[in-house]
Amino acid sequence: MKMQIDPLVIADLPEVERIEALSFPTPWPVSAYEAELLENQLARYIAVRADGELVGFAGIWLMVDEAHVSTIAVDPRFRGRGVGTRLLLGLLDLARAGGAAVATLDVRPTNHDAIRLYDRAGFKEVGRRVRYYEDTGEDALIMTTGPLDAKQQAEYESILRNASGEQSEGAQ
Ligand SMILES: CC(C)(COP(=O)(O)OP(=O)(O)OC[C@H]1O[C@@H](n2cnc3c(N)ncnc32)[C@H](O)[C@@H]1OP(=O)(O)O)[C@@H](O)C(=O)NCCC(=O)NCCS
Repeated sequence: MKMQIDPLVIADLPEVERIEALSFPTPWPVSAYEAELLENQLARYIAVRADGELVGFAGIWLMVDEAHVSTIAVDPRFRGRGVGTRLLLGLLDLARAGGAAVATLDVRPTNHDAIRLYDRAGFKEVGRRVRYYEDTGEDALIMTTGPLDAKQQAEYESILRNASGEQSEGAQ
């Protein structure tokens, strides 16, 4: 599968809405994405496209020295092919380019697919927000990378980059 990574744009929002509905128990409305893309100066959103079709998207908020992953989602038909990995690596590049020292995120403890991805990218659990998700009453796990400019972090990303590059070239 030939993947391309570039900025998410307003014209993508109908597809974003579809993927959101398939990906999250409480999807963000399109209006939230409009505000993110048009008004939130701290936000950066990226897309992965396969043959021109939007197959995943992700965002990050650049808050001085901390970059916080706001969302990441892949069309269920395209999961398990390295799209989520590409998106997360893209966000970490943006975080570093934006001057962030570390990246953080919140995740549901039951979201094992996402936690495995974050774990491979060097995120570690550092705490919990109790009953953070109103829809299920679940806690949020707070995960953070070590310093983004550290050798250890470069190693995590290099392993992922090699794995996702090799696999996507081999896949049809
Ligand atoms: C979490 C999520 C973004 C991961 O996306 P993804 O595209 O499936 O991620 P990847 O394909 O990079 O990695 C998933 C698995 O596929 C494997 N993989 C990656 N590239 C592969 C390839 N080319 N061929 C085969 N397997 C591959 C990975 O090793 C990984 O394996 P594991 O789950 O056994 O550890 C996706 O499951 C999703 O959208 N979930 C719903 C939304 C969500 O929960 N977002 C997170 C909120 S905090």
